[in-house]
Amino acid sequence: MKLDNFSVFSFLLLLLPSSSYATEAADEFFMNKDNVDCHVAKSDVDLLEFPLNLEYLEAEFFLWAAFGRGLDSFAPNLAAGGPPPIGARVAKLSPLIRDVIVQFGFQEVGHLRAIKKTVPGFPRPLLNLSAESFGTVMNDAFGHPLEPPFNPYANDINFLLASYVVPYVGLTGYVGANPKLLSPTAKKFQTNEEYSNYMYICEYMQLAAGLLGVESGQDAVLRTLLYERAIEKVEPYGITVAEFTSRISKLRNKLGHRGLKDEGLIVKPKEGAEAKLKGNLLAGDRHSLAYDRTPEEILRIVYGTGKMSKPGGFYPKGGDGRIAKYHLHKSQDYLFACEQNMHN
Ligand SMILES: *[C@@H]1O[C@H](CO)[C@@H](O)[C@H](O)[C@H]1NC(C)=O
Repeated sequence: MKLDNFSVFSFLLLLLPSSSYATEAADEFFMNKDNVDCHVAKSDVDLLEFPLNLEYLEAEFFLWAAFGRGLDSFAPNLAAGGPPPIGARVAKLSPLIRDVIVQFGFQEVGHLRAIKKTVPGFPRPLLNLSAESFGTVMNDAFGHPLEPPFNPYANDINFLLASYVVPYVGLTGYVGANPKLLSPTAKKFQTNEEYSNYMYICEYMQLAAGLLGVESGQDAVLRTLLYERAIEKVEPYGITVAEFTSRISKLRNKLGHRGLKDEGLIVKPKEGAEAKLKGNLLAGDRHSLAYDRTPEEILRIVYGTGKMSKPGGFYPKGGDGRIAKYHLHKSQDYLFACEQNMHN
């Protein structure tokens, strides 16, 4: 069974010096497709620092939209010298939505601080939060350029739709990471070293669960606010809010390359709860459990390229941390084989 493999691998990993996977010999080993196994290239620390990429994006997007300034103003030490985001700006929001976004923005600051307290992490990556960047996502979602170009900062509904684009991706990432952190705890510790590794894992699990809880809360709030207006038309496009969400979700499913993990606000009944409902306030599988995504799926989505080795979209220079950097430097063929292997 998959989990058993995982627990053995992850546990071995904890006993290895952290940079060992990057050695030349290891690279040679992994370049041979028959030997490929991605588990070996990931430790719990890697899995927990990876979400910083998304947390930075969310923090900047929400803070800028609400205040017209971001981390450099509210918590410059958390930016850790990373470049300021491109094109972020204040959004035209009603008092209620602004209030919600202020709270989300500060929640993300807390998440950044919590992750960076637990793992070494990395500085803020370069983020492209320009109106054009979101406009491109919407054009891709509809398969043709919207006229005039979609502007996330123009009003409440546009901003809520733009917010639908990213946090949910982070949520699926936390769902995916949790069991990978959890599996080694099944092993009974016998030495002091094993015990201290065990304590680390407990701390990591607690952090991942805490992040998952609040990220899924944010997703629920955004979806509820959009659901209230699901059949309203987004002007001047004459396209309903629900249609926007299902197009964005379809695009993410396509870019992620791992089937259905994303659903709009109004779906075919067979995709709704108990395969009965069209109203789809929360996305979930046939048992209404949250979908999970691997870091690889997430990179393909947030780069907007469908390739984890090809940066773009919100991350013009790619993500940071060992997982993202590893994929930026490997060939696409290798990566595909690698991920196929992971899912078998
Ligand atoms: C930001 O994204 C837009 C839309 O994709 C693009 O036109 C622009 O060149 C990007 N800016 C940078 C600095 O990458």
